[in-house]
Amino acid sequence: PEPGWTTTADVVVIGSGIAGLTAALRLRDRVDKVLVVTKDVLNAGSTQWAQGGIAAALGPGDTPAQHEVDTLVAGAGACDLAAVRVLVEEGPEAVRELIALGTNFDHDPDGELSLTREGGHHRDRIAHAGGDATGAEIQRALIAAIERAPEIEVVQHALAVDLLLAEDGGVAGVTLHVMGEGQRDGVGAVRCRAVVLASGGLGQVFSQTTNPAVSTGDGMALALRAGATLRDLEYVQFHPTVMYLGPDSRGQQPLISEAVRGEGAFLVDFEGRRFMQGVHELADLAPRDVVAKAIMRRMLDTGHPHMWLDARHLGAEFWERRFPTILATARSYGVDPVTELIPVAPACHYASGGVHTDLWGRSSVPGLYATGEVACSGVHGANRLASNSLLEGLVFSRRIAEVLPGELRDWADPAPDERSAGLVAGTLRRELQETMTSQVGVLRTAAGLADAVAVLEKLAGVPAEAVDLESWETTNLVTISTALADAAALREETRGSHWREDFPDRDDERFAGHVDVRAQDGEL
Ligand code: SIN
Repeated sequence: PEPGWTTTADVVVIGSGIAGLTAALRLRDRVDKVLVVTKDVLNAGSTQWAQGGIAAALGPGDTPAQHEVDTLVAGAGACDLAAVRVLVEEGPEAVRELIALGTNFDHDPDGELSLTREGGHHRDRIAHAGGDATGAEIQRALIAAIERAPEIEVVQHALAVDLLLAEDGGVAGVTLHVMGEGQRDGVGAVRCRAVVLASGGLGQVFSQTTNPAVSTGDGMALALRAGATLRDLEYVQFHPTVMYLGPDSRGQQPLISEAVRGEGAFLVDFEGRRFMQGVHELADLAPRDVVAKAIMRRMLDTGHPHMWLDARHLGAEFWERRFPTILATARSYGVDPVTELIPVAPACHYASGGVHTDLWGRSSVPGLYATGEVACSGVHGANRLASNSLLEGLVFSRRIAEVLPGELRDWADPAPDERSAGLVAGTLRRELQETMTSQVGVLRTAAGLADAVAVLEKLAGVPAEAVDLESWETTNLVTISTALADAAALREETRGSHWREDFPDRDDERFAGHVDVRAQDGEL
């Protein structure tokens, strides 16, 4: 669409979670003008919802090398070692900086930072805040810092639609659809010299997810249309313990943090049997792909739509102090974890893949950087280790802010755009989600993936009746679902969070490398 207004900024940061706001705060003194755009309000993204915490080797006896080993093991042979090393080595300092910025992490009675454990970790190394409200506290501290930095311009309710590309294929700007913000309402253009994509994940591709409503894969779809390489899309992590609200419940579902198992809760089946013992040496605290699969397997074997989490022995006082958010949420759905078992089932939680970047957040499109869940820096491999996600956003946004000012592109005019608009009808979203959940969810087969691709092709041909947020988001969901299903079909093996029923084993000979997806002439 033709922009109705134009403005300029040296750098546009798309997204306002830990990755976007960290990038904006660190860039503000290093470039002339930073503009943050966010699709909803500043705290509407996934950071706000993070419960368990942020992992870093901060405790006595812990080291980045041990954090590295746990990250690599969870990643099932698909991590980039250099990227993991950056994450674990720069992590502790990055978390200390977050504390200096004003984030109030929980402390033990002796005044030391309180650290807990989650799946796949062999040490207590998860810092948390407000018990189980870590993301909300980090988001609060970052927004307070943004409010103290009026030189950073913020535009809320603004969907980044597409990049404007220069003749050389690099960034010349970005088009925005601003909803109800007065002066800059409607579609406009920001001419800029770099874009930092920090727009989060794609959980709304599936019917049930822990992600908020805004996680519709917009940044990945925008990057794909701009010619960027996306990597590891098939590795979508399903969190094992999401509260089961019944067969008709859709959209964002309540997470029961792994930290609850870290503090001693355990899974049981309908007979009351603990089924994680004997499955893995860490039992209920095995990496989350192992736990999610064991729950799914038990659900399929017994015909039940969920399993149970038993945390009654933690007691009322502990629940109230350590997990106040989860306790209140569970009670609001009529389950009291102090006296009752919690019904749980896996649901989509995290995209381990995304826009492929180097160690400094650079994508394959000149001037386009990516950080946080939208990016694939290589730290997660086939299965992200618990509480490494907030850390990734933090560490790689700091790195982007180091290099970006020194490599800012010259102002460039956008070249004529031959990509077709092709907006898809917003009403198709439910059919898309049901198809992706049944065919591209935890269990995948060649036949199911082919069915999903056929449905997605059909949906892509249904034009939108209105140019509105629902249609933009559904278009992005179709684009990214197609790329995900294609990647999942290519990987004929089972590894990490990618589980092929027709190829149940890991195949290191055929699949030592990655599945990369790129658009050519606008087509996948
Ligand atoms: C959790 O609290 O279980 C989620 C942590 C994470 O996704 O890293």
